Parts: sequence; C-alpha cells; structure tokens
Amino acid sequence: MSDQAQQKTAIVTGAGGDIGRAICVELAKDGFAVLALDIAQEPNDETIRQVREAGGKGEALICDILDADDRAKMVEAGRALGAISLLVNNVGAITAESLQQATVENFQQDFKINQLGAFACFKAIEQDLIANKGVLTNIASVNGLGVFGHPGYSAAKASLIHFTRLVAVEYGKYGIRANAIAPGTVRTQAWDERAKKNPQVFEDAKRWYPLQRVADPVDIAKVVSFISSPAAAAISGACLPVDCGLTAGQAELAGTFAQSEDY
Ligand SMILES: NC(=O)c1ccc[n+]([C@@H]2O[C@H](COP(=O)([O-])OP(=O)(O)OC[C@H]3O[C@@H](n4cnc5c(N)ncnc54)[C@H](O)[C@@H]3O)[C@@H](O)[C@H]2O)c1
Repeated sequence: MSDQAQQKTAIVTGAGGDIGRAICVELAKDGFAVLALDIAQEPNDETIRQVREAGGKGEALICDILDADDRAKMVEAGRALGAISLLVNNVGAITAESLQQATVENFQQDFKINQLGAFACFKAIEQDLIANKGVLTNIASVNGLGVFGHPGYSAAKASLIHFTRLVAVEYGKYGIRANAIAPGTVRTQAWDERAKKNPQVFEDAKRWYPLQRVADPVDIAKVVSFISSPAAAAISGACLPVDCGLTAGQAELAGTFAQSEDY
C-alpha cells in the first residue's frame, strides 16, 4: 500500500475557532493529516501553522459548510491528503438568547448552522467513511441535554445528538462509529461578546460547576482524540459530557436540599 493510501485524513469544521484549532493540533499529533475547514481564512491559516509547528501534516481550506460547491471542494481536498477516515463536525453558532427573542428566521438559522451543516458534511463524505470504516464525532453541547439558554442553538444541538445515534445505528454494519461530545462552558473567543457585557462571566459560571472551573479548548480536544481513536473502538452512539460535572448536578442546590454544608 502506498504512503498516500495509508495516510488517514481527518476533516475538522470550524477549525479557525479555539476548540476547532485545539482539535486539529491534537489529531495531527495522533497521526492524521488534517483538513482544517473554516469560513474565515486568517484564523484557519493560524490553525494549520500550529498543526505544522506541532510536527503534523495538514491543509487549510476556506469552506462554508452550508454551500454544496464548497463541500465538494472539501471532499476533493480531503482525498488529496489521504483516506478520509474521520469527520469532526465542530461548527457552531448562536443567535437568539431566549424564546421570547426568537423568530422563525433565526430559529431556522440556528438549525441550519448547528445541525443541517453537520448532516450535509456527513453526506458529502458518507462513501469515504464507509470505504474506510471511518468515525464521525459531533461537537454538541450541554445545551442539547438541558436548558441553559439560547433556545434555537439548544434544540439544534439536541437534534445533533440524535443524528449521532441515527448514524451509529444505521451505519454500524459498515464499521462506522458515531459519537457526540457535549461540552459545558469552554473559555473561547465565542464568549467575547458576553465577556464584554460581563467581564466576570466565567467567574459567575464556575459557581455551577462541581469542579469549580470551566473547560479549556484542549480539554475538549483530548476527548475528541480519544473517542475518535481505536481506544474507543466499542463506543458508538454515545454522547459524552465534557462539562466539569455540570450535568451531574449542582453542589449548591444539593446542599440546600440536604440542608448540609458538606456540599
Ligand atoms: N465555547 C463554549 O463554551 C462551547 C460550549 C459547548 C459547545 N461548544 C461547541 O463547540 C464548537 C466550537 O465552539 P467555539 O467556542 O470554538 O466556537 P467559535 O465560534 O469560536 O468557532 C466556530 C468556528 O466556526 C466557523 N464557522 C461559522 N460558520 C461557518 C460555516 N458556515 N462554515 C464553516 N465554518 C464556519 C467560524 O468562523 C469559527 O471559526 C461549537 O460547535 C460550539 O457550539 C462550545
């Protein structure tokens, strides 16, 4: 087998964001040739610079995941790097903050970017994943598991988690594994606007986290690396919270209920 045929390609969407960048660097360290996709050029170029700095191999591609022509270019570029064996759907974006602010238009926009885009990327490389017994890893959110604000985004992430299960069940016979990761708060640039409104936003958030901290992008990337690797060969259809304990419960509330200071 030629080196090119043996080389595994990982496609990571939203690779110019902090979480996407950390995922690309981690997967490159794992030996994947990384195709970093983003709609924005500069941050995506920086991702590939960091991939190469870490000794990895990769290319940056400007790609709007909602555009069919761009997705066709994604497939071409992915195959040029090696055998497409992993798709990490990491693009995510938020519009309305509450249902009272939501409109039909922005609800639909949230679904397009957070759910439909992931489905469309999967469909574009479906045959490659079948041929290569590949892996699908979707970056969901705790917002897909419970109510933490941003309704359109949350409903779309819940749908993304269910889409993950659909793939796991229907494509398991081809050897394809599909899993979702549900991060809690992660310190990224996506929080810049909210941090402008409240510079204490991360400090305020910590109170609700059993580990009394929020996650860093590398916390998410390490879990993507594991769940996409042969070490997780028997895990499919799962949604793994990477949330510093948030979805387990809240110590303060448990203390109130138990009337105990042990929490
Ligand atoms: N940051 C958090 O606290 C947090 C928590 C839970 C889940 N997540 C999820 O993790 C993922 C990454 O989050 P982040 O904080 O790094 O976000 P981010 O906004 O910093 O990065 C997202 C990237 O996606 C790109 N993008 C947007 N639309 C695109 C399109 N149509 N085509 C291609 N690229 C596009 C953006 O340019 C950006 O670089 C998202 O799915 C997000 O929902 C984040």
